[in-house]
Amino acid sequence: MKRREFLNWAGIGLLASYLPVALVACSQQENNETSESTSESQSPETTSNVPDEQGYVTIGTAQELNESGYLVDTQSNVIVFGNGNNNLTALSLLCTHQGCNVDLKKSANSLSCACHGSEFAFDGKVLKGPAQSPLSAFEVKAENQLILVKVG
Ligand code: FES
Repeated sequence: MKRREFLNWAGIGLLASYLPVALVACSQQENNETSESTSESQSPETTSNVPDEQGYVTIGTAQELNESGYLVDTQSNVIVFGNGNNNLTALSLLCTHQGCNVDLKKSANSLSCACHGSEFAFDGKVLKGPAQSPLSAFEVKAENQLILVKVG
């Protein structure tokens, strides 16, 4: 057998031996993708930015709020503080100075604006200017283990 014939023969053999492995791997990946999308579609929807008939959007669950002490919804630009179903506060994440987003500074117990340095307390009051007005507050309620905020 010539060298070229041997290489062709060996190449086809090698390809034939890897083909079933590659097909199985592709099949498993497809199954994983299918199961992921299935599990996503079966998981409960905990946030919805489509307001209900009363104008409330779902920000998260009471359990999530219990675990972290706050919920952030970047689509609605809202942060909710509270423990479970009690003492709920929903604030806008838009700075009242010129509208930049404020960030949670949990270690400092404040919301701070990186644009010009304003800081706000967790009840929305101004701790440090240049902002003059408190963060806008929204109506918030717990219903069926969901945290709902009336935005807009
Ligand atoms: Fe927030 Fe100016 S926009 S401090």
